[in-house]
This record gives sequence, structure tokens and C-alpha cells, in this order.
Amino acid sequence: MTASNKTAVVTGASSGIGAVYAYRLAARGYDLILVARRADRLSALSEKLSASYGVKVQTLVADLANEADLAKVEDVLGNDASVRLLVNNAGLARLAPLAQASVSDSTAQLALNITALTRLTHAVLPGFLARNEGDIINVASVLSVHSLPFSAVYSGTKAYVLAFSRGLQAELADTGVRLQIVLPATTATEIWDVAGVPLSTLNQDSVMSAENMVDAALIGFDRGEKLTWPSVADEGLWEKYDVARAALFAATQTGKPAPRYQAA
Ligand SMILES: NC(=O)c1ccc[n+]([C@@H]2O[C@H](COP(=O)([O-])OP(=O)(O)OC[C@H]3O[C@@H](n4cnc5c(N)ncnc54)[C@H](OP(=O)(O)O)[C@@H]3O)[C@@H](O)[C@H]2O)c1
Repeated sequence: MTASNKTAVVTGASSGIGAVYAYRLAARGYDLILVARRADRLSALSEKLSASYGVKVQTLVADLANEADLAKVEDVLGNDASVRLLVNNAGLARLAPLAQASVSDSTAQLALNITALTRLTHAVLPGFLARNEGDIINVASVLSVHSLPFSAVYSGTKAYVLAFSRGLQAELADTGVRLQIVLPATTATEIWDVAGVPLSTLNQDSVMSAENMVDAALIGFDRGEKLTWPSVADEGLWEKYDVARAALFAATQTGKPAPRYQAA
């Protein structure tokens, strides 16, 4: 797949998964708008990508947890008609038991992983719907469906990304706008050191490179997958999970307490 005169916006492009998306999308011919806080990293990446792939690369230095900066990015997404792909990738993890974590660490994760992702999706959607064309890639996590004793807030934010994206996919079903949810497992990026859990302390057999993760996710994207679990060999596992989830939801629609909760 190649793109001409189409722009992809990648949030969190200054490192890790977002930087690899930037490389791969440039190779596919997308012009790019790269968003993150570290201007030096974005400039270096921008120079490399425009020299290697001949695409136009703009950098947008923004703290997506800051109201004025977020509004700046929303403005671009709402008004630049060349934008055809939004990769909602910027994310933050602070991994610690809640009682040992600061409130500001918790709210920083909510602001970036939930609020910014939701607002950027709001901003890009009207143009995509008007043109009946556009793609959104929301980077969730395997922790969207799993919580560990130190990931209550992070897992909660990624569960939100999954639930939000599934609802939006249903809303977009009859349109030309597509949304892919990517659920990476442990990926070798800087997020771990920032999170307070050094990558070196993890089971190295469970760690995927960011390149392999993004390449697998883009194969899923090209296939039109709604959900992509890059590290999961048995795709039937998600189907079974989703069937069980739908059956549980259907079983809630009774209008009365279950017999075990009825007074004798
Ligand atoms: N690595 C994993 O094991 C793993 C697993 C599952 C899901 N994920 C998800 O993958 C996504 C990418 O993470 P990564 O692993 O590639 O981590 P990373 O290397 O730490 O990258 C995070 C990116 O987000 C940007 N960012 C952080 N805070 C920001 C803010 N306030 N405003 C704007 N940008 C901000 C960072 O850039 P600046 O610091 O320059 O702003 C950086 O470019 C995240 O959503 C993460 O939750 C990662």
C-alpha cells in the first residue's frame, strides 16, 4: 500500500512504537505530522525521514496533557484536509501500587491515555466522515484486558481505549472510516524505564522489538483487522473471549435480580 498526498499524524513519534510507525508510514509514502514534547528528537527524525523517503514531514511539539497544546493539535486535525490517518500512540505508564503512587502520576496517565486520545479522535472524525475516508489506529495494550497489582490505573486507561474504540467501530460500521485497535504485549521501548519497571527486569522471552510489533500491526491494518494482537498466535482466543463477553452482556438483560439474590 502506498499513499500520495496523504498525511498521517503520529502522536508520541519521538521514540519507541511511534517512531517506528513514522518510519513505516513514510516508507509507504505518507506525508507526516509528528507530535511529541521532545523537539530535538522530532527534528532529527523529521530530517531522516524526509531525506530517506522524500516525504513532507512537519513536527508539532506539544504536551498532549496541556490544554493549549492539545487544542493546537486538535486544530490541525480538524482543519488539514490532507490528514487521512491518525495514529493515537502517545501513552504513559506509571507502574506502582496505588497506595504508593502519587495522584499526579495517576491523573497524568488519564490525561494522556484517555483524554488526549478521545479529544484527538473527536477532532479528526468530522473531516473523515465528510470525506467518507480515513483511518484511525488506537494503540491499546494487552493490559486492556488484564490488571496487575501495580497497573490498576494504566490497565484502566487501556481498558478505556478498548471499550471506546469498540463502540466507535460499531458507530463507523457503515462508513468508509476505519479504526484499528492494536494491543501490544511487552515491547522494548523507553516506556518501561519511565514507568519505574526497567525493561531489563522483565522476562526477556516476553519482549518484542518495536519494529516487529509495528510491522505485525501494519499487516493487520492492511488486512482491515479491527483488533490486532501482534503477539498472540491463536487468534481463536480473542473470538472465544468476545463470544463469552457478548453472552455475559446478553445475560444481564433480565430486569430482575438473579435467583441467588432473591430473598427466600
Ligand atoms: N512498550 C510496551 O511494552 C507497550 C505495551 C503495550 C502498549 N504500549 C503503548 O504503546 C504506546 C507507545 O509507547 P512506547 O512503548 O513506544 O513508549 P515510549 O517510547 O515511552 O513512547 C511514548 C511516546 O509518547 C510521547 N509522550 C509521552 N507523554 C506525552 C505527552 N504528555 N504529550 C505528548 N507526547 C507524549 C513520548 O514523547 P515525548 O516524551 O517526547 O513527549 C513518546 O514519543 C503507548 O500508548 C503505550 O501505552 C506499549
